[in-house]
Amino acid sequence: KAIFLKDYLPPAFTTKETFLDFELLPEHTIVRSRLLVERNPKCGVPSNLFLLDGNELELLEVRVDGQPLGESEYQQTATSLSLEIDKDQFVFECTTRIYPDRNTALEGLYISGGMYCTQCEAEGFRRITFFQDRPDVLSVFTTKITADLDKYPTALSNGNLVTRTEENGKVIAEWHDPFPKPSYLFALVAGDLICQEDRFTTQSGRNVTLQIFVEQGNEHKCDHALASLKRSMTWDEEVYGREYDLDLFMIVAVDHFNMGAMENKGLNIFNSSCVLATPETATDDAFARIEGIVGHEYFHNWSGNRVTCRDWFQLSLKEGFTVFRDAEFSSDMGSRAVKRLEDVSFLRQHQFPEDAGPMAHAVRPASYMEISNFYTVTIYEKGSEVVGMLRTILGADLFRKGSDLYFDTFDGQAATTDDFVWAMEQVSGKDLTQFKRWYSQAGTPRLSVRRAFDAASQTLTLTAAQHTPETADGSKKEPFVIPVALGLVAQNGNALAIESEDKRFNAAQAVWLVEEAEQTLVINGIAELPAVSLLRDFSAPVLLEDDLTDQERILLIGNDPNGYNRWEQCQIIYKKLILQKVDAEFDEALLKALKQSLRQLLQDDAVENAVKAELLSLPAESEFLQLVPNIDILSVEAAREALRLWIATELFADFEQMFGSLESYSDYAFEPEQVGVRKLKNTLLEYLLLANLEQYQGIALAQFEQASNMTDQLSAFKYIVQYGDEAAANKVISVFLSQWADDVQVLEQWFRVQVSRSDENTLSRVKTLLDHELFEYQNPNKIRAVIGAFAMTNVKSFHAADGKGYEFLAEQVAKIDQMNPQIAARLVGPLTKWKSYDLSRGQKMKAQLDLLATKVLSKDLYEVVSKSLG
Ligand code: ARG
Ligand code: ZN
Repeated sequence: KAIFLKDYLPPAFTTKETFLDFELLPEHTIVRSRLLVERNPKCGVPSNLFLLDGNELELLEVRVDGQPLGESEYQQTATSLSLEIDKDQFVFECTTRIYPDRNTALEGLYISGGMYCTQCEAEGFRRITFFQDRPDVLSVFTTKITADLDKYPTALSNGNLVTRTEENGKVIAEWHDPFPKPSYLFALVAGDLICQEDRFTTQSGRNVTLQIFVEQGNEHKCDHALASLKRSMTWDEEVYGREYDLDLFMIVAVDHFNMGAMENKGLNIFNSSCVLATPETATDDAFARIEGIVGHEYFHNWSGNRVTCRDWFQLSLKEGFTVFRDAEFSSDMGSRAVKRLEDVSFLRQHQFPEDAGPMAHAVRPASYMEISNFYTVTIYEKGSEVVGMLRTILGADLFRKGSDLYFDTFDGQAATTDDFVWAMEQVSGKDLTQFKRWYSQAGTPRLSVRRAFDAASQTLTLTAAQHTPETADGSKKEPFVIPVALGLVAQNGNALAIESEDKRFNAAQAVWLVEEAEQTLVINGIAELPAVSLLRDFSAPVLLEDDLTDQERILLIGNDPNGYNRWEQCQIIYKKLILQKVDAEFDEALLKALKQSLRQLLQDDAVENAVKAELLSLPAESEFLQLVPNIDILSVEAAREALRLWIATELFADFEQMFGSLESYSDYAFEPEQVGVRKLKNTLLEYLLLANLEQYQGIALAQFEQASNMTDQLSAFKYIVQYGDEAAANKVISVFLSQWADDVQVLEQWFRVQVSRSDENTLSRVKTLLDHELFEYQNPNKIRAVIGAFAMTNVKSFHAADGKGYEFLAEQVAKIDQMNPQIAARLVGPLTKWKSYDLSRGQKMKAQLDLLATKVLSKDLYEVVSKSLG
């Protein structure tokens, strides 16, 4: 059932041009295709096999060069149509019937809120018509859409509009995309939509029309996305020299969408929650997410569309690189420090556990059963870290030269991760063979660094040792190339320059390349043992262990010139304290020292407000499973709560004073200064409520009622629901609903917040929400907001010792698998990590997986369940 990278073969034929004709009828849709097919010059072996993919299609007719084929002249299976043909060129035509209104998988052509839309990546196009549905077949598409004019006056596809006519109550639109593309980038939309428009002029003077299409009633929610799009276009010109290439760029917002968004050429389709925003309805976090995703999809126009992937094993070629590009974009638009530490937290909370679990895979996987299951944090976020390491190793200038060479060389082609590294090797003259293990080997390396100081020779010797535990996908690990950005801080707090003759130490960038299983670095001219600040800006995705003392960490929290590492040292202290509490009691001396540093940081005007808020945020429970295998997760949760309470109580006066002195902006703007103030203020409010509910519940209620923006309203709402007394919680739940019942985006938050309260009734409340008239099983956002949020964010209730949380999740997964396999396979994720938990919990999680395994499962869910039991 699995397919392997090593079996990759180019197809015998390729489809050069594709003409599609869609007739959108009330009961079904008729798709007529005409394909201009040629022999594929890239195919080395002689073959006459023309193989097309198809899934859930009703085949009505097949023709070759105009002649209808009889059933004996082609082979059809449940997933393919093939014929042997001894021609160098031919025209293949076929007609299929499909049923978009019954399509609950949200792959291919489906209906969302009365509008037709598509999702073809990775293998959805084969649910529309028979086609070479593989990314190494690039074709020029012309698309004709015929639909009912009343219901679907807006009919869109990729590229440029050639003609649009209205006759006999029908709209007929014809689109042409001049850029050859794989079928996964095809898109079609038809609906009664409103368009918000803007313009952008590119570097070289091309006038581009920008359009965002939304359902009636959402037209006031497009400003932020349009502004983000223009900023993305400017940024890609300035930072990567990449310009937009069509006269039209369209975004469509749909409510039913499996993922965040999709980069279809010239016609991006977005989950409405990732594009629509106003200050009243969206939080600062949502504004930031929208800016990042709009950027991400736009940047795909080069990293993904102009240069695409040869096969799906290369997925990270476009996704890792594009995440890296969008992260840089967001860093340039907002707070670089905050973006980095958020991304590192995310990686540690999600990617490290993936690498330690049953679905572990390399950034370029060697095999898969269902490609939808490989749109993972490893492909995306670790893939981005790998690109970031390349830039660290090459330096920013060579990296840009490498990216230019990559785009120029592979423009219009389907490429591989090796091609990307090749470009970096060409411009730098470096041999990156060993580096490529980051693409081929799964696993999170453990890196330890120890110091040895020799007073006589005035040298400091660092010894690094790396080891990567075996992962579920097997195989021993060879050493990685680990770029360790580092610095020295003397005991008096001063930064020291590093002098070393080591060839693997790049002095200009202060980066040490650790390539061996064990390796030393000798640093000269050291008068006394300094603290070492390692892995600055998290220069490699590894689990680091060093030999710093608590005092040295406190010293770094106050003095490290690298802002990221000050936060990191603070996180390490938090983790240490929480683990102490799990076993016995906090170390009083360490608490005192921590309190002192926190107070100093909070008073330091040089530290951004948003960073102050992050410094007060404790590491998530899931990070502790990496530090102490099989630790009791609820004892971690309790210890973490105890530490939060301690901070809230000890710093109460400071928090009160700061909370009162921070500004309240009456005119909302999404800009770093305001965002930072709101973030800190709301973080302080949470601590104040923890320390003194009686006094602060009223203040939170007032904020909830009076807030002029969703950031402040939602924070207050969340805190009252989580910490407030039951009467107050129930009150805000009903007030919030009556205020926002008509707003789809805000409603998602209303669901999400309610499942975050943990008490003896949590599970029954969650179940009641599933029966709420506004809940819909067909809508992935709602499933994520209720079932997903319960399993991912309510640690206490989901992991309750009776195992009822696990049972609930498994039941829901089985039910959802009948409608939407992709979502089911994602939702089951928390159960698959059963081996990381304590024995009793692990067994209860596994029992639910065993039960699932006895049912008839989709290919998606089967792969995840069987791998996590295997
Ligand atoms: N390429 C899209 C993005 O990252 C995601 C598509 C996901 N599709 C899927 N079947 N999982 O922007
Ligand atoms: Zn992407």
